[in-house]
Amino acid sequence: MSAQPSTQARVTVNSLRDKKAAGDRIVCLTAYDASFASVLDANDVDVVLVGDSLGMVIHGGDTTLPVTMDDMLYHAKAVNNGLSRAMLMVDMPFLSYTSVAMALDNAGALMKRAGAQMVKLEGGSDQCDIVSALTAHGIPVCAHLGLQPQRVHKIGGYRVQGREPSDAEHILSEAQALQQAGADVMLLECVPAALAAKITSELTIPVIGIGAGNRCDGQILVLYDVLGISAGRIPKFSKNFLQDSGSIADAIKAYTEAVRTGAFPADTETFT
Ligand code: KIV
Repeated sequence: MSAQPSTQARVTVNSLRDKKAAGDRIVCLTAYDASFASVLDANDVDVVLVGDSLGMVIHGGDTTLPVTMDDMLYHAKAVNNGLSRAMLMVDMPFLSYTSVAMALDNAGALMKRAGAQMVKLEGGSDQCDIVSALTAHGIPVCAHLGLQPQRVHKIGGYRVQGREPSDAEHILSEAQALQQAGADVMLLECVPAALAAKITSELTIPVIGIGAGNRCDGQILVLYDVLGISAGRIPKFSKNFLQDSGSIADAIKAYTEAVRTGAFPADTETFT
């Protein structure tokens, strides 16, 4: 198997910004290997994330915490081999960015050794110095707010964030601080749709949602949820697109179309 050379230009931070400006929704999915990555690339997914969700869907763990830099490098390299058009975004794993020096080393490795075009990290304004340092050194950053799975033990479980007005205000101000620090993209996980819509309209950078309603600039899901093969219960905000499709490629097409038309997420897949 090898990725077919694409005639389309590679997705960049500029094309993501242009999509926000034009009101064209950004389609994102996770992948962990070259074969699935090439199916996503061929079916018009804009951003492929090598998520630390691999600790759960590939390794079968209960959390993302045990995932290492070696794991991320291994899967990111594989995914990169399957891409020719989509942007490759890679998660910084738990405790791999506790200082500026460590963040630069690890994000640099993801770019130099695995071909990452953007790294994603969890956290609020406590991460602004890391985000500033990475972006100052030419490393694009996606900041991840709302439910932050790397903090699952601190927040007491996988639960919707920002339902209380004071929490919602806090998430909005954290998003503004991270944008100010240089974040190129914002990812919001499991927040009420109205809060995600407000953050999307207030930020100039693209906002990607997962469990954040359909008024974000784009959507992301875990690929194995989309294919209905994740162990356990599929999250409320996700959807099995394979069950009504004839093939994996058709399932990805159905997902991209549903995101681009705004049909996904529907109210049933949204938190209030
Ligand atoms: O790790 C991951 O796959 C993620 C997505 C759920 C956004 O962060």
